[in-house]
Amino acid sequence: PDNELKLTINGKQFQLDADPNMPILWAVRDMLGLTGTKYGCGAGLCGACTIHIDGKPARACLTSLKQVQGKQVTTIEGLKADELINAWSEHKVPQCGYCQSGQLMSAAALLSQNRQPNESDIDAAMSGNICRCGTYTRIKAAILSVSA
Ligand code: FES
Repeated sequence: PDNELKLTINGKQFQLDADPNMPILWAVRDMLGLTGTKYGCGAGLCGACTIHIDGKPARACLTSLKQVQGKQVTTIEGLKADELINAWSEHKVPQCGYCQSGQLMSAAALLSQNRQPNESDIDAAMSGNICRCGTYTRIKAAILSVSA
């Protein structure tokens, strides 16, 4: 069919019969069952849906399936960042937890670009990820604890 899309997610290939204009958020959550990527605002404002496209952070709610053709998509389920994830648990970062996979995706993308981010680098990289519980101080401490 015309709408056969090829996706590479967490290193695996998928073929989906879907609208190419559909946000990838719905493909990963509803069609592939990867529910770690969260729906917050649906409008690019909160960061809960952050994924990586070719290693760079992106909003899954604003990224269409056709935009990721031929690209490598990573969701929280495929994130390889054990040290960072351990720091999240050591610093007891999550409160309600809803925004935290997006927070981790943004933090991991920052560290892959910059192994030694300072506080202002962290503020800049994390400013698009909103947390209603206000876990920002612990997020910063966790990122600083793994900065090389
Ligand atoms: Fe995508 Fe809020 S759900 S930025």
